[in-house]
Amino acid sequence: MQFENTASFAREQDEKDPLCGYRNRFYIPMINGQECIYFTGNSLGLQPKKTQDYVLNELEDWANFGVEGHFHGRKPWLSYHELFPEKIAKIVGALPEEVVVMNQLTINLHLLLTTFYRPDDQRYKIICEARAFPSDQYALESQVRLHGYNPADAIIEVAPREGEHHLRTEDIISTITTHGHQTAVVMFGGLNYYSGQVFDMQAIAAAAREIGAFVGFDLAHAAGNVPLHLHDWGADFACWCSYKYLNSGPGGVAGAFIHQRHIADIDLPRLAGWWGHDKATRFLMEKGFRAIPSAEGWQVSNAPVLSMAAHLASVDIFDEAGIDALVHKGRLLSGYLMYLLDAVNARFATPVIEIITPRAAAERGCQVSMLMLQRGKEIFESLTQQGVLSDWREPNVIRVAPVPLYNSFTDVYRFGQIISSVLDN
Ligand SMILES: Cc1ncc(COP(=O)(O)O)c(C=O)c1O
Repeated sequence: MQFENTASFAREQDEKDPLCGYRNRFYIPMINGQECIYFTGNSLGLQPKKTQDYVLNELEDWANFGVEGHFHGRKPWLSYHELFPEKIAKIVGALPEEVVVMNQLTINLHLLLTTFYRPDDQRYKIICEARAFPSDQYALESQVRLHGYNPADAIIEVAPREGEHHLRTEDIISTITTHGHQTAVVMFGGLNYYSGQVFDMQAIAAAAREIGAFVGFDLAHAAGNVPLHLHDWGADFACWCSYKYLNSGPGGVAGAFIHQRHIADIDLPRLAGWWGHDKATRFLMEKGFRAIPSAEGWQVSNAPVLSMAAHLASVDIFDEAGIDALVHKGRLLSGYLMYLLDAVNARFATPVIEIITPRAAAERGCQVSMLMLQRGKEIFESLTQQGVLSDWREPNVIRVAPVPLYNSFTDVYRFGQIISSVLDN
């Protein structure tokens, strides 16, 4: 698309946008009595107006039925989690039986590593991206220690080359190949939270499988933002949260994927609980865990229905809008944002902002990370005062994410105007 730095261009794009009606289905926070420019859907997605109805329905059923809501509620709680797989599968590119909605992201990562990280003295290494999200780093370190290995030896991090911001796929692949016979698990984020780079998950999965390692992805910033084909890529496992692009509220229930080739193996080691046990005999309350032969077999506890109700409200919107259309618009918005930032930079003798998110559409979602070359924190604070909600990541990055469901081309254009005037002052 040929972008233009004018309000009329942005307005025209909004008028043509088949998804523009979705904005009215979300609450947009106010700053100084005006709808803010909400560019932090990569951190906490906005609340769909319907969420309250979904949660209220469950509160009403609880009031009206008490424990019987498990069987007689409008959406019986006993099987509440079964409302998700068909819809979530479309978002992450999976078969319905490969996905389950449960727990929180880091807990799911631990549950999956319990199954897939089973080191021995031959194969005990984990290959991951350098500067992965801290929770992932802690999870990996603690898993390595739990098995009696030393993280300094067992965790191999792939870093960008000197002076670069992105990981090169060739460097990831060569690291996997180099440590081939010693590697137990390859574990990457789908989209790096800091730079906004989408990794080549297909190539990483192929390389990991080639050396006989298991491969998993943390999709916190990828689910609902970029195209995913977990089943076809052959990933062994993946997990994600639902409070970012999936708009399911703070601490919302998370998700997990286990590839079809593993789910029927009910003898795979795992941390078991009654909700993962064979449904036909779960309530016989007998000894002897027998896993459900699907991703549900990794469930531990019964479903947190109130949090799941909020998740369902959002997932229903995704199902209606369609992930392909959302990905397409998200990339257009971030492309437009980059174009406007280039124009802002061009006004200064030395650049003020370095965009560290890849330019190629296939290597990004809707997030754009701006490395601030001067006055970073001050500019970030001024943006907030001017009604822009973005986020700051130490040491010097402002992340902005125009989200296709509720942000518009006009939001992006206005952001360009605001940051330009902030820099002038
Ligand atoms: C990439 C990534 N991984 C893991 C987490 C931790 O998620 P949780 O607190 O749901 O376990 C986050 C949270 O923002 C994240 O961005």
